[in-house]
Amino acid sequence: SIKAVIFDLDGVITDTAEYHFLAWKKLADDLDVPFDREFNEKLKGIGRMESLELILEKSGKTFSVEEKERLASRKNEHYRTLIQRITPDDLLPGIRGFIKEIKKEGIVTGLASASKNAPFVIKRLKIEDLLDTVVDATKVEKGKPDPEIFLTATKQLGVEPAKCVGVEDAKAGVQAIKRAGMFAVGIGDQNTLSEADWIVSAPAELSLHELYQRYQNSN
Ligand code: G6P
Ligand code: MG
Repeated sequence: SIKAVIFDLDGVITDTAEYHFLAWKKLADDLDVPFDREFNEKLKGIGRMESLELILEKSGKTFSVEEKERLASRKNEHYRTLIQRITPDDLLPGIRGFIKEIKKEGIVTGLASASKNAPFVIKRLKIEDLLDTVVDATKVEKGKPDPEIFLTATKQLGVEPAKCVGVEDAKAGVQAIKRAGMFAVGIGDQNTLSEADWIVSAPAELSLHELYQRYQNSN
C-alpha cells in the first residue's frame, strides 16, 4: 500500500502558481510579448530559465545570455515581492488536513518543487514540520517532466516509487510523476492533466480514503 506522498508546491499547497503567472505577465507586458493564462499553462512546473526562453521565443528578437539573466532576475524580483506577504492562511483549503491525515496513518511526506523559492515559501507557510523531505530546483539537474526530482524525493524517503503518490497541478509535473513510476494525482483541469491516475479540481477534494481506493484499483 501507499508509503509516501510527495507534493508539488506551487498551485498544490498554496496558490503561488498565480503569483508566478502575475510576475511573468508583468515581464511579458514590459517586453510587449502577448501573454495569457492558456500560454501560462506551459510554464507551470517548468524552471525559471526554460520559462523565460518560451516567452522570449514569442518576441521574435534575440537576447544575449546577460540580457536573459537580467530578465529572469527581474521576474524573480516581481515574484519575491508577491511572496513576502504569504502567511499560513495562504495554505489552500483542505491541504493541511490532508497532510495531517496522511501522517497520522504513518505515511511519510515530501516536497518536490522546481522553484528555487520553495524553501522560503514553506517557511512562510510554517509547514516545515509537516514535510519529511524537501527537494527543490537547486538539488537536481533535470527539470520536470524528467522524473529526477520525484525520484530524488523517493530515495531520500527510502520508499520505492511504486509505493509513492505524487500530487501535481502541472502537466509537466504529472508526466514527471508517471515517468518516476509513481501514482499521479492531478489537481486542476481534466484535459490538461489527463495523464494523471486521479484528477480532482481542488485540494479540498482530496481524501485519504478515496486515494487508497484509487491506488488499489490501479494496481
Ligand atoms: C515551479 C512553478 C513554475 C516556476 C518554477 C521555478 O515549478 O510551477 O511556474 O517557474 O517553479 O520557480 P523559481 O521560483 O525558481 O523561479
Ligand atoms: Mg505546480
